[in-house]
Formats: sequence, structure tokens, C-alpha cells
Amino acid sequence: MPSELIEFHGMPAVRWGIPGGASATATMQGAHLVSWTLPAGEECLFVSERSPFEAGRAIRGGIPVVFPQFADRGPLAQHGFARTRDWTFIDAVDTADGSRARFRLESSDETLALWPSRFRLELSTTISGTRLDVQLQVVNTGEASMSFMAALHTYLRVSDAAKLRLGGLRGMTYLERGSSERKVEAREQVTADEPIDRIYFVAPPATRLEDGQRVVRIVQRNFSDTVVWNPGRERTARMVDMAPDGFRRMLCVEAAAIEPPVVLAPGATWLASQSIERE
Ligand code: BG6
Repeated sequence: MPSELIEFHGMPAVRWGIPGGASATATMQGAHLVSWTLPAGEECLFVSERSPFEAGRAIRGGIPVVFPQFADRGPLAQHGFARTRDWTFIDAVDTADGSRARFRLESSDETLALWPSRFRLELSTTISGTRLDVQLQVVNTGEASMSFMAALHTYLRVSDAAKLRLGGLRGMTYLERGSSERKVEAREQVTADEPIDRIYFVAPPATRLEDGQRVVRIVQRNFSDTVVWNPGRERTARMVDMAPDGFRRMLCVEAAAIEPPVVLAPGATWLASQSIERE
């Protein structure tokens, strides 16, 4: 360390971290964080053991970067193309904030054939102590205004989804997938004992996940929305890339910019982040 090129289930990846401390691994495909371990060695992210680890196929778990489309809200493939493209590894360095790795993805003939805007993405992932900071920067490198959605689709590893409590969302307006009716969250603590797939509009200042003895604090900056997703037993049974009990070991708390999409003038930069810290 601080960084080494490795293979993660056969995929080219970078591992970096603090000697004797926290470490992280991201695949070149998607700049996809597939592991974040605390100094004591505990893994904090869920990655499905049945995930494909193949070029061009989305990895199930970790932190997929969703760009420039969220889910099926547009003409592109589900969640856009950034998660299945090869990014460029820029560097891994020790900073005052921790051990940081940066990756870049730029528009190309391939992306321009799918989506007309020219862009440069930079993903900067920093680990320190028991904290992870992921920052996404989007630059409009074209000559026309561009509009996009984005998300850090974080899969937290949990001990039992049926017993989780996620606080901080009370009073937020949400839309449950499959419904067109917006509702207001009445619960102090959101649970995942039933399937959940909700976009909360207007992100809370912070959410706090209680998972037995573990408490995780999640803060997002400049992402307007928060998505909470757990597919539940029946949907998981139909997913080829999840073990039948996979849904019990994960919860997605996603920092997202969905509604309204972000509009960037030519040359302008948008910066947003998600921080996750074990209390
Ligand atoms: C979530 C969406 O963000 O991602 C869900 O809200 C979706 O509706 C989930 O099922 C997983 O998407 P994918 O493309 O990785 O299977």
C-alpha cells in the first residue's frame, strides 16, 4: 500500500489503504467500490457472491456509480452506462483526510453514440479510520447545456435486514416504486422487514442506520434525493445475481440526484458526495 493493482474475481482492480488500517478495493470497470474494510478487518459493503464479474455486466453490490440516468427514467440502459464502462485510475495518495483514490471517465465515441453530451466524471474515494467519503464530480466538457441524473448506489452490508432501523427520513416526501402517489414518511425509523424501493425527495441532513450493535451515520452533500432499496425475498428469488438470502444481508441507502435532473452549463462543474461513518 498505499495502492496496488490486483484482480477482484478476475476483474482488474485497485486496492489502497492505510498500512494496518482501513482498506478499499475498486474495479476499473465502473470505478466500482467492491470492498471497504475497517482497521479491525470488518467488511462494510455487501457484494453478492452470485454477482457476475464480467466486462460490460453490472456488479451486484458495493457502490455502483449511476450516471447519467437513474433506473429506467430515460432511454438508456437501467442506471445508465457509467457502471459498466472502464474508468481510468488517476492515483492513490495519502491526504490530510485519509487515503484517497481517484478515477476518471470521459465521454467517448461510444458514450456519444448512446447519449449526446460531452462530460468528464471524477470519482474520489477516501478512507480514514472508520469513515468513507465518496465524491462524484461531473464536468460539462461540451458546448451545450447538459442534463443528467446520478447516484452512489451504496449497498451496506448488514447483519439482518429484518431488524434494521433507519432514522432521519420522517417528514420526507417519497415515491414507492410501482406507485404514482407521493406520500410523506410518518415513521421515525424506517424498516426493511418488507421489500422497500423508495425515492425520498429532498435529502435529509443525515440518516442513521441501527443494525444491532452497529450504528452507521450517512451524510450526503449536494445530492437532492435518497433512495432506500431492499428487494425482499420474492424479488430476490427471481434475481440471478443474488443468493436467496442475499436480501437479508444488505440495504441500499443511495445518495441520488434524480428529480429534478441536474442541469450543467458548458464548462460548469457539479460536485456531490456521500460519507459513511461507523459510530
Ligand atoms: C434501485 C432502484 O436504485 O436499484 C430499484 O430503486 C432497482 O428499483 C435497484 O431495482 C437495482 O437496480 P439494478 O439495475 O442494479 O438491478
